Amino acid sequence: MESFQDGERLHLLVVDEAGDTTGNGTWQETKIEVRDLTKVSDKGVVILSKVNVDIPKGVIMGIIGPSGSGKSTFLRALNRLWEPPRASVFLDAVDICDLDVLGVRRKVGMLFQLPAIFEGTVADNIRYGPQLRGKKLSDNDVYKFLALADLDSSFFNKSGGELSVGQAQRVALARTLANEPEVTYRVNFGTTY
Ligand SMILES: Nc1ncnc2c1ncn2[C@@H]1O[C@H](COP(=O)(O)OP(=O)(O)OP(=O)(O)O)[C@@H](O)[C@H]1O
Ligand SMILES: [Mg+2]
Repeated sequence: MESFQDGERLHLLVVDEAGDTTGNGTWQETKIEVRDLTKVSDKGVVILSKVNVDIPKGVIMGIIGPSGSGKSTFLRALNRLWEPPRASVFLDAVDICDLDVLGVRRKVGMLFQLPAIFEGTVADNIRYGPQLRGKKLSDNDVYKFLALADLDSSFFNKSGGELSVGQAQRVALARTLANEPEVTYRVNFGTTY
C-alpha cells in the first residue's frame, strides 16, 4: 500500500523526541503513574494485585499476559471505564479521580478489539469527534489521519460495510487520533492486524 503523501512517511511509530528531556536518550517525564492498583471482583477474586508502573511520555509500551490475567481491566482503569481507587492512577501527576471524567477520556484515547464503524463514510467517522467539539476537519486533515493509520486516500468515501475487520480497526484508530488524545490505548488486538 502506498502512503498518502509522496516523500513523506507519516507513522505512529515515530516517537516525538521532545519527550527526551535529558538529551541522552533516557525518558524522564512520566505521563501515567500507577501505584498499588488493586481490583477485587464482587465475588472476592483478586483481578489486579498492587500493580505499579510508570509510563513515560512518548513511549510505546506493550502489556503482555495470559488470557484473563487482567490486561483489559488494567487499561480500563486508566481512563476510568472502571473507577480505580483514589491515589492509584495519576495522569500528569494528578490523581485521575480528581479530574473531570470526560476530560480524562478526551486525553486518554481507547481503541477496542472489535471496531464499531458509524453510519456514513470513513471520512464522516474521522470527522465525528472533532465535529462534536465544533471543529471541522478539512479533507487534507482527514487524509492525514488516514495515512497515520496506514490507510490510503481510496478509503475516504468508503462505508463501514466495505471494510475488512483490519481496515475497520485502522479507521477506528484514525477516528481516535482525530480526537487528538494525549495517550492512546489499544486494547487486546490479537492476530487480526
Ligand atoms: N465484570 C467482571 N466481573 C467479574 N470478573 C471479571 C469481570 N471482568 C473481568 N473479570 C475477570 O477478571 C479477570 C481479568 O479480565 P481481563 O478482561 O482484564 O483479562 P485480559 O488479560 O484482558 O484477558 P484477555 O487476554 O482474554 O482479553 C478475568 O479472570 C475475568 O474473568
Ligand atoms: Mg482483554
